Amino acid sequence: MKINSKISGFYLKKPGERLDLVAEMCSLSKEERGSLADTGGLPLENADSMIENVIGSFVLPMGIATYFRIDDEDFLIPMAVEEPSVVAAASNAARIARHGGGFITEHDSLLMIGQLQVVGLANPEKALLELKTRKAEIINAANERDPVLIRLGGGVKDIEIRRLETLSGPMVVLHLLVNCLDAMGANAVNTMAEGVASLVEEISGGVVLLRIISNLADRRLFRARAVFKKEILGPELIENIILAYHFAEADPYRAATHNKGVMNGISAVVRATGNDTRAIEAGAHSYAAVSGRYKPITSYRKNEDGDLIGEIELPLAVGLVGGATRSHPQARACIKILGVTTAAGLAKIIAAVGLAQNFAAMRALADEGIQRGHMRLHARNVAASAGASGDSIGAVSRIMIESSEINEEKARQILLELKT
Ligand code: MEV
Repeated sequence: MKINSKISGFYLKKPGERLDLVAEMCSLSKEERGSLADTGGLPLENADSMIENVIGSFVLPMGIATYFRIDDEDFLIPMAVEEPSVVAAASNAARIARHGGGFITEHDSLLMIGQLQVVGLANPEKALLELKTRKAEIINAANERDPVLIRLGGGVKDIEIRRLETLSGPMVVLHLLVNCLDAMGANAVNTMAEGVASLVEEISGGVVLLRIISNLADRRLFRARAVFKKEILGPELIENIILAYHFAEADPYRAATHNKGVMNGISAVVRATGNDTRAIEAGAHSYAAVSGRYKPITSYRKNEDGDLIGEIELPLAVGLVGGATRSHPQARACIKILGVTTAAGLAKIIAAVGLAQNFAAMRALADEGIQRGHMRLHARNVAASAGASGDSIGAVSRIMIESSEINEEKARQILLELKT
């Protein structure tokens, strides 16, 4: 099928017209067209105002993780994710963590970083000095860009300036450290960074090139900790989980998968609340590599009673205002389910979910492996794709698991046999 993607004025059409055109060009069946047009819990008008060239929306399953106790409060956790086992594993880990009192969280500052790249400097050291001397002036100019944020207690709290050696020679980088309160902060920070560029040029005598937020939000770090009791795990499993963690600590190949498992939980909650999964993922992975070597963002050790202590630390720039958190009705409902009223409150929950998700993976991997539990859920998926529904999903998946053959052809064959 050869198509011509040069469609002038595509953006001017209505979503239905765009979909008609795509359906025709790509020979979509009525069902295929219908599946794209079905917008689930997101009205088409909302979708159309969120991004460009909308034809419909992409729907994911939303599950609720149970058993979470965080900072002495119970929470139901909405998770939007396509991967089987994630919600079950998080709930299971949270159930075990409850025996040790649940998750305890903390954070230090809540600052985002806006970067200004200053190039073309004849004397970078002199520029650095000048910028440092006139710091207060730059802070004031940045804060003038967002009076609402300032009125509510946010805004630029400090500035950091450093010299950077690059392939193009020395540059000066200026960081605006901004408290964005309950916003993720990209808009506020980018507006401020762009707003002070000319002043920074005037002071430094250089040219400001990039003016943009950094997703390595290491001034907005969140930590969560949990005690997993030895009476539940047993001493051998605890030793094995610590060995598995030491593997990740020493080896970036393993650390990547370890952190992927953490992000299974984190991204699912970030997505469900309408936050920016890519910003959080970029932050987590860059923080994992901040020492110069890619490391796991969780850690495990034993306490003096022989229980397992799990900890997580990562940047979590999530918001409750702005972006899809407000414009997506399902995201709003998820925030209500979580019962959070501040961005920091949401970030603490997300940190706890990341730790829970990782603990669940570690527990399975250091014991029977993940495939048995995973396959059980996968088999249900396969059965449904092969046309099973209602009770027959359970029956078909059971027979597939018993026969150790889990694929659509087998599922169809079992369905036929069950019908006859
Ligand atoms: C699968 O999505 C995630 C795991 O691979 C994570 C891990 O290996 O720690 C199970």
